[in-house]
Amino acid sequence: MKIQVFNNYSLLPHNTFGLNLKAATFIEYASVDDLKAYIAKGMLEPPFLHIGQGSNLLFLKDYEGTILHSAIQGIEVTGEDERFVSVRVGAGVSWDDFVDYCVKQGWYGVENLSLIPGEVGASAVQNIGAYGVEVSDLIAAVETVTAEGEERMFGVAECEYSYRNSIFKRTEMKSHFVTYVHFRLSKQECYHLEYGNIRKYLEATPHYDLATVRKAIVDIRKSKLPDPEVLGNAGSFFVNPMISKAQFDELSKQYPEMPCYDMGNDLIKVPAGWLIEQCGWKGQTMGKAGVYEKQALVLVNRGGATADDIVALSNSIIKSVHDKFGIDIHPEVNFVG
Ligand code: EPU
Repeated sequence: MKIQVFNNYSLLPHNTFGLNLKAATFIEYASVDDLKAYIAKGMLEPPFLHIGQGSNLLFLKDYEGTILHSAIQGIEVTGEDERFVSVRVGAGVSWDDFVDYCVKQGWYGVENLSLIPGEVGASAVQNIGAYGVEVSDLIAAVETVTAEGEERMFGVAECEYSYRNSIFKRTEMKSHFVTYVHFRLSKQECYHLEYGNIRKYLEATPHYDLATVRKAIVDIRKSKLPDPEVLGNAGSFFVNPMISKAQFDELSKQYPEMPCYDMGNDLIKVPAGWLIEQCGWKGQTMGKAGVYEKQALVLVNRGGATADDIVALSNSIIKSVHDKFGIDIHPEVNFVG
């Protein structure tokens, strides 16, 4: 059985905030059969939590149960015609390695999601998104194994995807462990270049292709977002809030420059990064946690921060935004403990 079990295990390599907390037990498995064999022996006891690379997590304290991690690898073509290719990808594949592979194969779809930290399994739980694309646009199905050892396949409609959300984030679904994700990608040229300044970046490259679009996204991300290897962080700390059109109209009288995205159904999405910057938080430090200089939506560990430092900063920001704009913002990062 290729399963590794560690006790009193440091979570330092498994959370991009760089917090040195511990798990009572940590297990890593390399195949569905190994996971099922472990479960069949009755070895998996609650509480447990399945994680990916820990790039969207904030551990608040040591975890007193079992943390599971998938090391399932592999990118397998399961079907193909002139227009589309279907691939089945192991949950433990690094997300950006998968994007790189697709770009090299000439498969269109995931390139705008270049350089997002994390693994393929978690991408399907979190519905990762960037630069006008969400991974749910490309997912065909998700395979899971339950904590009772049963295999189950969810078609994309059953995953109930919405902005940074899916059925797998529900509390009662924490016992479904994602093992494989199925994607449907285009073999015909098609790009999503409408978001932000992507077109501007590509102006210097008149004959762009998949590789140059990927490079543009990588450059844009690097110019705005800190590398977790250098500065601990978990990407956007908050989700962008939705407010009613009526509330937006009222606020824009006072803040005519407030950016907005019309989501239909009388709802307006407002960038939390803009709200936080307007409250004066950009570049600030509190305890050993801070707000990133180039993107106010990202909270960083300035070195030696504790979970309490990060939570205290987050709470202060939430209060400032509420007091100034009457808008409640909520963490995107999942708090554990
Ligand atoms: N803005 C500011 N100040 C800031 C940050 C942003 O004024 O400090 C303004 C920008 O000028 C722009 C707007 O807010 O008008 C949106 O900014 P940006 O394009 O950087 O995107 P975002 O809404 O802050 C979202 C995602 C990111 C994703 C980018 C690009 C969420 C929670 N975050 O950020 O995702 O990379 O769009 O698509 O939706 C992540 O989820 O971890 C993540 C990094």
